[in-house]
Amino acid sequence: MIRAGTMAGEVAQALSRAPAFSGVLGTAFGLSVARQACLLGMPLLTMHVFDGVIEGGNLDTLAVLAVCFFVALVMAGVMRAVRAMLMAALAESLARRLTVEALEAAVRSALAGSRRPGLAALQDTAELRRFLGGGTIADLFDMTATPIGLLVLWMMHPVYAVIALAACVTIAALGVVLDHTTRGMMRSASDRQVKTSAELQGRLRQADMLEGLGMLGAVVRRWEPAQAASLAEGDRAQARARAVRGITEYSSYIAQGTMVVAGVILATHHQVSPGSVIAASMLANSATAPIARVVLSWRDWAMAALAWRRMQELLADHAAPDALPPAADGHPGLWVRDLTWTPPEGARPVLDGTTVYCPPGTITLVLGPNGSGKSTLLRLALGLMQPDSGTAELEGQDTRQVARDVIGPRIGYLPQDVQLLDGSVLQNIGRFGPEEAEAVVAAARMAGAHDMIGRLPQGYATEAGPTAGLSMGQKRMIGLARALYGAPSLLVLDEPEAGLDREGRQAALAAVLAARAAGAACLVVSHDPGLWHGQVDQLLRLGPRGSWQTEAPDKPAARGA
Ligand SMILES: Nc1ncnc2c1ncn2[C@@H]1O[C@H](COP(=O)(O)OP(=O)(O)O)[C@@H](O)[C@H]1O
Ligand SMILES: [Mg+2]
Repeated sequence: MIRAGTMAGEVAQALSRAPAFSGVLGTAFGLSVARQACLLGMPLLTMHVFDGVIEGGNLDTLAVLAVCFFVALVMAGVMRAVRAMLMAALAESLARRLTVEALEAAVRSALAGSRRPGLAALQDTAELRRFLGGGTIADLFDMTATPIGLLVLWMMHPVYAVIALAACVTIAALGVVLDHTTRGMMRSASDRQVKTSAELQGRLRQADMLEGLGMLGAVVRRWEPAQAASLAEGDRAQARARAVRGITEYSSYIAQGTMVVAGVILATHHQVSPGSVIAASMLANSATAPIARVVLSWRDWAMAALAWRRMQELLADHAAPDALPPAADGHPGLWVRDLTWTPPEGARPVLDGTTVYCPPGTITLVLGPNGSGKSTLLRLALGLMQPDSGTAELEGQDTRQVARDVIGPRIGYLPQDVQLLDGSVLQNIGRFGPEEAEAVVAAARMAGAHDMIGRLPQGYATEAGPTAGLSMGQKRMIGLARALYGAPSLLVLDEPEAGLDREGRQAALAAVLAARAAGAACLVVSHDPGLWHGQVDQLLRLGPRGSWQTEAPDKPAARGA
């Protein structure tokens, strides 16, 4: 409960940064207090009925009291409903904001090589939404009933207050015990669960290979113990929570029973009125019930706290970088300066001070053996990775410090491992932006993909996602069209001709020549220098251990498409 309390504080702090949120929370709290006041009326009225009406036989008073009773109940109900609506709206709007931030951070975290899937960030947002929108925070607000109830009990007779206080302390102590003994378990079970399910998802994506090589059994056997351990840990935590829950419920009953016994003893000694016995029992219940509810909803608190912590870590580690304005003396085109990068556990640099300038309207061909850092250079140039040192500037703007939605349309990128997203060919080429069929067809024509797309079962409307069954070559051609879409000023292609037939390779070459003619700076990785022979403006050769050199091509580049 203690750490859950800290987390509630953090949530409240985060919410209070947005004035609308703190307003809503404040209103919900005010409604909770008002509702408690209405409910408090009930035991007091009961006492009057017993002590005044029964003894005096005044049924008119009873009628008035009954009406008051009814009105207070209805008001309490209405306040509860309004409060629930407010909290649901709050949860909705917070979740909407968090989802976008979390997804953006999840993408950046995946780029930085994190194994934690972006999906987990979404699950965490859903968890927080459920928590805020459910009754858990309201239960916390309802705890205002506890001091009020204790005070009224004290005024009726100190013994009543002491019994109720003992019950409250017992239940709260149980909550703390529950928190301490199970939180570690819950946390490691939930972390393990996220990890094992991500692992399985990753392996199942290789279904062809698993089935073809008969590896499924072996993979499942390796995965199963981790999964079983994570589930068993979760079960242990739950069992412990169930035990504490049982004890908590009984504590409430015991408090009420004790209250009646003590009340009757006090009443026989004429210390209190008989009506107060019933009122005290009701008050004891309303003082302990909110604490019990908060303890019983402990799992929600724990889960929400974990989700909140993970989300905060994700957002803190992968916040969007501040966008810098273009440098005043920035060159047009792409300037890669002194890029050095060593893999996290590597001893030798993959790139060591690589420097190359790609002016607009030129082609720079990057050559080098496998593993020499060609793909890494492209990713660094696009600002997708953090270099150890050095910078990459597009039109004078550091590619690490830009708003991606602003720079993205100016970039055409074809990764080595081309992937298309769920959606039609049209949507994939058009980068899922507003539909501009003409621009999509123009990009497809330029990439030499238009005829191939025309032969697909449903042309541009054909489904293109990972399970759609397009061949690697078809995907690459569509990926090239996607790179060319919107006439980007920087074209970065990682082995665009790989896996293509002769016609496809010529089309890829023609596409790059056309982009150059249109003024794009082109940076192309290839294993086929013959295809590009005589067509490029500059060569960048990467060698082992980060060695590199730029060269003029053998023949002057043939300009124009
Ligand atoms: N995210 C990464 N983590 C660790 N090592 C990496 C990472 N990305 C690339 N490398 C290493 O950097 C080297 C260059 O990789 P890459 O740029 O893909 O080569 P290529 O020239 O074949 O495109 C390889 O040895 C590879 O293992
Ligand atoms: Mg590569």
